[in-house]
Amino acid sequence: MNDSEPDLSRYLDVVKSATRCAVLTGAGVSAESGMPTFRGKDGLWKEYRAEELATPEAFERNPDLVWEWYDYRRGIVEGVQPNAGHEALAQAEDLFEEFTLITQNVDGLHQQAGSRNVIELHGNIRRDRCHLCSRYREEGEGRECGCGGPFRPDVVWFGEALPAGAIEEAFRIVSTADLVFTAGTSSQVYPAAQLPYTAKEHGAFVVEVNPESTPFTPLADLSVRGPSGVWLPILLDPSGIGSRSDSG
Ligand code: OAD
Repeated sequence: MNDSEPDLSRYLDVVKSATRCAVLTGAGVSAESGMPTFRGKDGLWKEYRAEELATPEAFERNPDLVWEWYDYRRGIVEGVQPNAGHEALAQAEDLFEEFTLITQNVDGLHQQAGSRNVIELHGNIRRDRCHLCSRYREEGEGRECGCGGPFRPDVVWFGEALPAGAIEEAFRIVSTADLVFTAGTSSQVYPAAQLPYTAKEHGAFVVEVNPESTPFTPLADLSVRGPSGVWLPILLDPSGIGSRSDSG
């Protein structure tokens, strides 16, 4: 924990009465599991060029290279486990009347930790779909779909639309939430990066959890400068929230 201890007094009042909680996560929540993030000093986009690997044009030009990159990242995903931050978020589903996890991550670690109500804005690296007809690839199928199109990872590439309905649903949820977290995201990739701003505009108390500051930090009601694997379990500690005013 760098910087000084955050002042949690206002947060503790809010969390005890909040009924609708939404959380936006990014690559940073999986960092403590051993997943590399995209930006920052050891980020993937320092070593690899996004436009050569994560665009539809790159896939159409050189599918083998793109597959090599995703097979490499899939290998990392298969070798890691959810961390304490993922687990705290999974348990938090039972602490609020409504709880939605909105993630930019494609690693599936939230679901592996037990989260059920998850909106995946950028797809999931563990699935494939046809680049032409969008049908999911079934176990045992080759690299080509019956329609003649090539299978590809079911992730959103730069220049592509987000999965139908997902971002609309995410905006609806943060607009009606009273408590919103933005954790482990650099707040640089839109439209996801807009979500905490929308939450603020609609009156939510917004907490940012990130060891570094982001463009959103000045607007956060509470900015916790530290790793999500340490801080989410503290902020969402059921014994603390157990003294909620509505818990009877
Ligand atoms: P980034 O790599 O841009 O940002 C990761 C953030 O996590 C940074 O702000 C770090 O400071 C923070 N971080 C690092 N370690 C952390 C920890 N232990 N706990 C909490 N935070 C930590 O990742 P995203 O914001 O998720 O898109 O990137 C957004 C999108 O850009 C990704 O979904 C991906 C990428 O290109 C697609 O693939 C479409």
